[in-house]
Amino acid sequence: MKTAVVTGASSGLGTEFVKAIVKDRGEIEKIVVIARRADRLEKLKATYGDIIFPLPLDLTDGDFAETLERTLKEENFEVRLLINNAGFGKLGNFEDISVNDNAMMVRLNCEALGTVTGVCLPFMKEGAAIINTCSIASFAPNTRMATYSSTKAYVMSLSRALRSELKPRKINVLACCPGPMNTEFLPIANIEKGTSHTFDTLPRVNVAEMAKKSLAASKKGKAVYTNKIFFKFYRIVAKILPTSLVMKMAKT
Ligand SMILES: NC(=O)c1ccc[n+]([C@@H]2O[C@H](COP(=O)([O-])OP(=O)(O)OC[C@H]3O[C@@H](n4cnc5c(N)ncnc54)[C@H](OP(=O)(O)O)[C@@H]3O)[C@@H](O)[C@H]2O)c1
Repeated sequence: MKTAVVTGASSGLGTEFVKAIVKDRGEIEKIVVIARRADRLEKLKATYGDIIFPLPLDLTDGDFAETLERTLKEENFEVRLLINNAGFGKLGNFEDISVNDNAMMVRLNCEALGTVTGVCLPFMKEGAAIINTCSIASFAPNTRMATYSSTKAYVMSLSRALRSELKPRKINVLACCPGPMNTEFLPIANIEKGTSHTFDTLPRVNVAEMAKKSLAASKKGKAVYTNKIFFKFYRIVAKILPTSLVMKMAKT
């Protein structure tokens, strides 16, 4: 059965990815929705019907890979689209963020993303696609978001290298790089009005549009997608200017 796998599907960008796939499903017959909050995943099923296959998993829990692999095998799922979207960040100086939070960012944003990809790849054939939710935070190191921006630099690097490796199998890998979006991400990261001048002033990215346009960019075989002229321009600037200068502009 031709399947999409979406991690972090219980809120924000992940939910919008699910909505966009349901609307323009093409060959997709099932969407495996992964997150910790089972009630949210069941709600997706209640809303969109049997196309939704809830798979409640904590992607920081060591056993999740076995469960995912077993499910893909038992259900005879062929993964046509993998969206590695689960992730979180924390705002603050490295030493003010708990040791556990810094470690968990790496575990979820990097380690789990790699593990989900490794589990899914044997279930993918020619023409399948991977979308990795990265961030504008991957373009340069962000002071006061040191671990988060480092995890997203990993996502960018892995996505590009994997894209090159998977070219012979005709599997495209896209790094989707949103700017700030009004999702649960911001309160979880302790980003509120007044906590960061940069976040207070940066334009907001529309979550539904980000999902729709990332899916379109993936279908076109693109490597990176950033929404909004402002952030596209920042991506170019970050490539050209010395990192120390870009870091001054990008200080959160
Ligand atoms: N919002 C922004 O400003 C922004 C900007 C750039 C990039 N991003 C990236 O966009 C992606 C989606 O974030 P969002 O903005 O949509 O935030 P969000 O609403 O907080 O969504 C995060 C998703 O990740 C899931 N998740 C968190 N921890 C998990 C775990 N241990 N195991 C499984 N799932 C887990 C959450 O579900 P449960 O809590 O139910 O597990 C939720 O579905 C993230 O990778 C984030 O880094 C966000």
